[in-house]
Amino acid sequence: MFQNITVIGAGTMGNGIAHVFAQYGFIVALADVNATQLEKAIATINKNFDRQISKGIITEEQKQTALHHLTTFTDIAAAVANAATENIDLKLKIFQQLDAAAPPNAVLASNTSSISITKIASVTKRPQQVIGMHFMNPVPVMKLVEIINGYSTSKNITDAIIELSKHLNKIPCVVNDYPGFIANKILMPMINEAIYSLYEGMAGVEEIDTIMKLGMAHPMGPLQLADFIGLDVCLSILNVLHQGFGNPKYAPCPLLVNMVTAGKLGAKSGEGFYLYQAGSKDLAVSNQFKR
Ligand SMILES: NC(=O)c1ccc[n+]([C@@H]2O[C@H](COP(=O)([O-])OP(=O)(O)OC[C@H]3O[C@@H](n4cnc5c(N)ncnc54)[C@H](O)[C@@H]3O)[C@@H](O)[C@H]2O)c1
Repeated sequence: MFQNITVIGAGTMGNGIAHVFAQYGFIVALADVNATQLEKAIATINKNFDRQISKGIITEEQKQTALHHLTTFTDIAAAVANAATENIDLKLKIFQQLDAAAPPNAVLASNTSSISITKIASVTKRPQQVIGMHFMNPVPVMKLVEIINGYSTSKNITDAIIELSKHLNKIPCVVNDYPGFIANKILMPMINEAIYSLYEGMAGVEEIDTIMKLGMAHPMGPLQLADFIGLDVCLSILNVLHQGFGNPKYAPCPLLVNMVTAGKLGAKSGEGFYLYQAGSKDLAVSNQFKR
């Protein structure tokens, strides 16, 4: 059903989404307002394809074919997947632009972590063709796609996106459109609670993450996960949950707010709860939290 995919935003998620679509034979255009970000994304995609080659998942020839299917540009033309910054005003503006530029039969999908799909759909003239397609980070590795039905999303569009996700070798799960959907409505309170525990001095970064890793068999602790997601993204999602449900239990921890204000956004900025030095695989707690 789909052949052409345009991904808007080439950050943490956009490069992974473009990678997977190109790997599975789609013609992919990757757009970002920032040209340097596009260069970085192509370098990351190359590196991740090489990792897949070394693991025997794809061949060098498949990598070359996929790269051949991938182009970058700094203008929006048409899109089905959106991975631009998690900011409601920006998302609404982008979807208005996409609605005006995309062919009438194009589906507009958002990778938003928490912004209402119904709200995004309401600024377009095709609310029945707007849907959430929430990939997980890192996209080439994680199997889940959380599909979010907006209030007006039509059943044939949901069915087509389920098929598309399966075609990408992912496992789709369909949910309804309420704040945080399912993934983040459950994950973010845990991350926020971990940050509160640090803020209240109950335990250090390593202790909190080790307890959750070893005690709950999580592959990484909640503070490390928050660093990987991006602390700005976590803060935006908590604000959406807080406002959307009107329940104080979702209020973001003041420490998280301070870290984002200070520009400590986690792995992508080089520092969050941990330090991320180029080339180093060791996990070092940020000096701010050394005990
Ligand atoms: N980080 C995660 O783990 C994760 C997981 C699932 C979903 N998401 C969602 O994916 C989206 C992107 O998150 P991210 O972590 O990749 O963010 P990011 O900050 O790494 O990247 C966002 C990119 O969008 C670009 N951008 C901003 N305005 C733009 C515009 N007008 N047109 C085109 N590009 C524009 C920025 O230059 C940047 O490269 C958000 O909606 C987020 O909620 C994130």
